[in-house]
Amino acid sequence: MNLPQRVTIVEVGPRDGLQNEPGSINLAAKLQLLEDLANSGLTVLEAGSFVNPKWIPQMADSESVFQQVRRHEGVRYSALTPNLKGFERALAAGADEVAVFAAASESFSHKNINCDIGASLKRFEDVMAAARDTNTPVRGYVSCVLGCPYEGHITPEAVAGVTAALLDMGCYEVSLGDTIGTGTAGSMATLLDTLLTRFGPQQLAVHCHDTYGQALANILVALQHGITTIDASVAGLGGCPYASGASGNVATEDVVYMLNGMGIESGIDLEKLVAAGNSISTALGKQTSSRVARALIAA
Ligand code: HMG
Ligand code: MG
Repeated sequence: MNLPQRVTIVEVGPRDGLQNEPGSINLAAKLQLLEDLANSGLTVLEAGSFVNPKWIPQMADSESVFQQVRRHEGVRYSALTPNLKGFERALAAGADEVAVFAAASESFSHKNINCDIGASLKRFEDVMAAARDTNTPVRGYVSCVLGCPYEGHITPEAVAGVTAALLDMGCYEVSLGDTIGTGTAGSMATLLDTLLTRFGPQQLAVHCHDTYGQALANILVALQHGITTIDASVAGLGGCPYASGASGNVATEDVVYMLNGMGIESGIDLEKLVAAGNSISTALGKQTSSRVARALIAA
């Protein structure tokens, strides 16, 4: 099997996870989560988002998160930014890098960021220009790459078009979001077979929500295609506010357990990661969604 020796995990729990947790989570618990995650060996932490707080109230304190988080050397603290206003807020708060987010589905784009795909890409041009001026790395996301809650099937060509636009405007990487988790090993393979005719594996990441329990299988397919960046959310926190029924991202603990079993390095201490996931789950008053953490608790 052709597999990478090492992968980077982008931990999105503090943003993608907490943005959709119904329980309110205070600033101190967010800061503790980031501290625990950095201590577990994660090197990329998506710590918050600078969107309209009326849309996503859970992220309204992202300024305080970035200003108060204890920085670990070698850890990048990133933020989601939908427009120039978001970028300026992120930069003022001290984000190391930002991410812009588009969709492969017009309907989802409207529901999520209130504009069509073309208009969203135009907005991102302003972000890219400001990012260039300040040497800020920008990641791109494409949502609904394996299905849309409103439109159903999405073609790989539609995903390729938006991916190309984001890379062309200067994103260093595009994360492919299976926002509603309907993808399978089959559809992920078809998507990547198409994308990899145009882009290198190092330009792509996968971002799998686990709604249908397919995320680990889909990540395995991505690894087999040479993808070395995987998004995951500790304790499987979260969902998506505009994708009803979407569960959290794949649990980081479950990804690390799989990588360990395959001899693929991630630099993450599973025990510390599980402890981090258990603490935030307790703070939220819920059971962890990580199968590995549940098994270890029961052992
Ligand atoms: P809009 O309402 O069309 O914006 O929202 P607008 O430009 O017309 O402005 C309306 C108001 O928003 C104004 O305030 C602006 O100042 C304010 P008002 O005059 O009404 O008081 N505003 C802002 N405030 C703070 N920060 C900003 C900002 N921008 C405008 N950056 C907008 C457009 C994109 C802002 C809005 O739709 C929004 O905030 N959407 C956020 C949606 C979101 O965060 N979704 C979840 C993240 S995406 C995701 O989870 C998917 C991902 O995980 C991948 C996957 O799984 O697929 C990444
Ligand atoms: Mg997501």
